Amino acid sequence: MQGFSDRIYRTALSHIGGVDAYYAPYIKIEGGQIKPKSLADIAPDQNAGMTVVPQVMANTSADILQVAESVAAMGYAELNWNLGCPFPMVAKRQLGAGLLPYPAIIDQVLTEYEAQSDVALSVKMRLGYLSADEVWPVIDVLNRHKIKEIIVHPRIAKQMYGGEADKSVVPAIIAKSAHPVAYNGDIVTAEQAQKMMADNPAISQLMIGRGLLSNSFLASQIKGVETNIFVKRNQLMGFVGTIAEKQLDRLQGAGHFLQKMTTYWEYWSQMFADAHRAFKTVKKCRSVEEYTDKVQDIVLGWEIVA
Ligand SMILES: Cc1cc2nc3c(=O)[nH]c(=O)nc-3n(C[C@H](O)[C@H](O)[C@H](O)COP(=O)(O)O)c2cc1C
Repeated sequence: MQGFSDRIYRTALSHIGGVDAYYAPYIKIEGGQIKPKSLADIAPDQNAGMTVVPQVMANTSADILQVAESVAAMGYAELNWNLGCPFPMVAKRQLGAGLLPYPAIIDQVLTEYEAQSDVALSVKMRLGYLSADEVWPVIDVLNRHKIKEIIVHPRIAKQMYGGEADKSVVPAIIAKSAHPVAYNGDIVTAEQAQKMMADNPAISQLMIGRGLLSNSFLASQIKGVETNIFVKRNQLMGFVGTIAEKQLDRLQGAGHFLQKMTTYWEYWSQMFADAHRAFKTVKKCRSVEEYTDKVQDIVLGWEIVA
């Protein structure tokens, strides 16, 4: 997730564990050039000991091929194509979910890609840009190509992240797709994850976004790991502490650091019974020392509901 699940977050989450693979924030291309910062995030030495799948946002085979070549040189064997990003700035340029109304373009890009690259391509997609009916012609096109997996987030772009993901459409997508189907959307508890897998045993994997951001234990809970409160507090301290330490090195000045931590705590605060007060406590911090003290109080002392 752009701005959140970078290499610092991914390595820090090893304090808790449970995640099988990370889909890295998408690699950006501007004026035909890959943004170096997006490649730095997936550098193998910075992502040791975990499975990371790079992702590309593009609408030409030339751009995807350029990224595929770069990630292959770094040792990656899979690239994920983002056909899901809903933000108007992106979608209006026929990128992300903005490409879903144009199955012919998707078809052409895939034909050209396949002829020139051995890097396996998977696809992350929404149901559509303006209408959920767009999904069917797109799946028809994907069925004609070599695709490793399709990850479906059953919303249309116009919904952004509002309303509910339409879980009822999943069986029809699995039935129609010639490729393995992974599910993504609104999984925030282990029970919801288990129900989704029980209702749809053919699902290849679950991708979790905001649910894992707001409950750092969710992936391990889905796997049935039970952690006592002392271990939980220790793991959480390791996780948020590592992020703080590394972001402090990376960001210039306390202001930037506190701003960044506040965006994380919008999610992390939800692990505490008094989420609202936890968030406000962090938001009010005016120095790194104050942040460190307050976060230690919260993580080691406040009631955890995650
Ligand atoms: C802040 C933010 C950044 C995101 N960045 C990406 C991204 O770079 N690539 C991607 O495929 N999805 C991205 N997503 C979408 C998530 O992967 C996911 O599809 C979405 O949040 C719905 O799943 P969830 O209900 O589990 O959060 C982002 C979502 C948010 C809220």
